[in-house]
Amino acid sequence: MRYVTLNNIASAGLSRLPGKYVKVDSIELADAVLVRSANLLDAEFPPQLLSIGRAGAGVNNIPVDRCSEQGIVVFNTPGANANGVKELVLLGLLLSARDAKGGMAWVDENKDDELIHKSMEKAKAKFAGTEIRGKVLGVIGLGAIGVLVSNAAVELGMKVLGYDPFLSVDHALHLDPSVTVVNNTDKIYAESDYVTIHVPENPSTKGMLNANAFSQMKPGTAVLNFARSGLVCESDLKAALESGRVRIYVTDVPTHAVVNFPHVIAFPHLGASTEESETNCAIMAVDQTVDYLENGNITNSVNFPACSLGPLQSGLRIVVLNKNVPSMLGKITGILAEQNINIGNLNNRSRGNYACTLVDVDSAVDEAALRAALNVDGIISVRLISR
Ligand code: MLT
Repeated sequence: MRYVTLNNIASAGLSRLPGKYVKVDSIELADAVLVRSANLLDAEFPPQLLSIGRAGAGVNNIPVDRCSEQGIVVFNTPGANANGVKELVLLGLLLSARDAKGGMAWVDENKDDELIHKSMEKAKAKFAGTEIRGKVLGVIGLGAIGVLVSNAAVELGMKVLGYDPFLSVDHALHLDPSVTVVNNTDKIYAESDYVTIHVPENPSTKGMLNANAFSQMKPGTAVLNFARSGLVCESDLKAALESGRVRIYVTDVPTHAVVNFPHVIAFPHLGASTEESETNCAIMAVDQTVDYLENGNITNSVNFPACSLGPLQSGLRIVVLNKNVPSMLGKITGILAEQNINIGNLNNRSRGNYACTLVDVDSAVDEAALRAALNVDGIISVRLISR
């Protein structure tokens, strides 16, 4: 197998690749891609490419729909960097409670003042703020990061409201019971002193923090966005910052426009830039990639369903990626029967428009004949893996 790394992928992850895997330096030659933030939206993908492993959560640097059509499984690593992002969100939350940025700038500007220890006592009043204990934090998006942020805020004495229309059972179980889960954002906007957003950017979330959302917020609300810049309508944010409706905007995903707005604290997308997060993401991305390449098993894909038959011990496994249309499974098993192939084990899973069928066979297979027979409408790709 040949793989390409398009960003620096932590060695703790790369060292888990089997010794037979060869590193290449371009996508054209690769069977698998490992990527962090490199932009693949306009990249051409060669026919042999099997997977793209994103060491991180967001996949908006990857053309997921095009990958699906080409039978390229896209993996991400949900939760692997959640603690790193949570810690930076807490930093942002605490920095925004007082004029910490203004205070630090004042110290910097006055560093030649030998009497700074006295002059600061007069200057400090203008940087004062409030404590976060007892304040209301509204969390939009209760995925891995949103849950950790919510729980940490509870620990810090905040009252937390959470909103997530897709809240999973697993995330709900990890949520501190004192977090109030609400059904829509109205209550979040109306009652929160701080609003933090932790959702992916997609057509339904793009620009969701807009004039309508800001108008429902209490005057002086602090807004934190450590997710994606496109979640915020920038012109509406500017107006809200100028009017004071939004007291401060803290972001880890700044744009040129936003860093030039007043009352902004911006980090250069540092959330997951910790040794621990980079290691966790690399390990997860590599393990998922290897399991797919070696066994055809799919875990944490954003475009194909989770599907597994465990490790392939011996014999042959057929990995079929297909469209999720009626009678596909019947068609596949019918073709195998026509080819006189005895099915030892089978798993078929579908999600959205796509499906995966894994078949372990315990009889000899004429590979060329099988591939030709499976070349039917609805089947995107066929792969045979043997031990
Ligand atoms: C993510 O999507 O995982 C975070 O934004 C961090 C990153 O992109 O590395």
